[in-house]
Amino acid sequence: MATNLKAVRGTRDLLPPETDLWQKAEATARSVFARYGFGEIRTPIMEDTQLFARGVGEETDIVSKEMYTWEDRARAQSEKAQSLTLRPENTAGVVRAYIEHKLGETGQLQKLFYIGPQFRRERPQKGRYRQFYQIGAEVIGAPSSGSESPLRDAEVLEMLATLLNELGITDWTLQLNSVGSSSDRPRYVEALKAALQPVKAQLCADCQRRAETNPLRVLDCKVPEDQPIIATLPQIADYLDTESKAHFAAVLAALDACGVKYTLNPRLVRGLDYYTRTTFEFLMETGLGTQNALLGGGRYDGLSEMLGGPKAPGIGFAMGEDRLVLTLQALNAEAAAQKLDAYIAPMGEAQNPYALALAKELRTAGLRVDMGDGSFRLKKSFEAADKVARRIVIVGEDEASTGVLTVKTFASGEQTKVTRAELISTLKSL
Ligand code: HAM
Repeated sequence: MATNLKAVRGTRDLLPPETDLWQKAEATARSVFARYGFGEIRTPIMEDTQLFARGVGEETDIVSKEMYTWEDRARAQSEKAQSLTLRPENTAGVVRAYIEHKLGETGQLQKLFYIGPQFRRERPQKGRYRQFYQIGAEVIGAPSSGSESPLRDAEVLEMLATLLNELGITDWTLQLNSVGSSSDRPRYVEALKAALQPVKAQLCADCQRRAETNPLRVLDCKVPEDQPIIATLPQIADYLDTESKAHFAAVLAALDACGVKYTLNPRLVRGLDYYTRTTFEFLMETGLGTQNALLGGGRYDGLSEMLGGPKAPGIGFAMGEDRLVLTLQALNAEAAAQKLDAYIAPMGEAQNPYALALAKELRTAGLRVDMGDGSFRLKKSFEAADKVARRIVIVGEDEASTGVLTVKTFASGEQTKVTRAELISTLKSL
């Protein structure tokens, strides 16, 4: 039997010390979310397939090509077989939870964040994986909670600028657009359909189909030959009604007031069907190569109703955490490589129990401690200790009986005898 089992294509193991950077990113995000009044939501990784078909949209690349979907067998008579899907994104799941737990009835604006894996069967490359991680947030509520206010859009965007700034990432550009409300959309889609008729035959097979089923998705097409034609199609900005225009103008005014820079991109429709009004992406100049979208998001004022829920306008984003870490690595950011405070080296197996008791005492006092083993030679203990710790504590036969320990500090080369009573304060000193 083959023994070379490997992580599945498009998935990866994250190991220390890289995971230190992941923890740093997540800790910074959690700290920012807390300051902006967000609480954490954790939704299941698998959901009913219908959630994504209805929420994200049948004609999107995500739903039509990229989902991990399977027929889950019934285990008992009382159960039905069900089509399940590994979540390709988390907004639909959050809105499902909002409806299921009647969060709208609280009358409060819900500010929720999440950090977790998502799954899409994409062609793997740098910055694009089949299991990837998102750090995201959603602001959603009944209209009376203020969920529709352009101030919410601007607050989310300003929070993102602050988060990236705190992570030391500055060379981003924020691209912004408005894709209009559910009343603007039909007029635009009609215009798009009409404009597509004469040129449809020159487009790729997917676009020929989309021109009929969901013309907006033609604008996401990545086929290079289609781009010159797509560039000539009508722009949504010309089809916004007064209300949508005023909403967008108010978002821009609030961003100007707090100094968040942006570029308008009238082609930014994003690859998911639920968006209305504000849409955005933060793109990176360096570090990410072709997969340069660090994060994306927008408003989804009709999503709750599409899923059978009450009216609940919302806005949110998801940041690709894998891409965030790649960006931090390109900036040479290091999660301050912290060495352990001490490495305890028992000199013989008889000293092992003493070493473990000593480690327990030091760890209880808050010190970061690792241990060797009594079977190690002195040289091996020193080499192992020097790699991971600032100091070595030697536990020989004498030391264990007298309670006087030998401590060596690697940086200075200084070696001293320390009583057990003084050990904690010695190890805490720099
Ligand atoms: P999305 O644009 O599909 O939006 O994904 C958001 C971000 O996730 C992307 O900008 C990218 O950084 C990262 N990402 C997506 N696919 C991959 C992949 N295969 N490998 C690595 N990173 C990836 C959404 O998912 C929406 N739910 C965002 C949102 C929240 N809109 C409103 N609320």
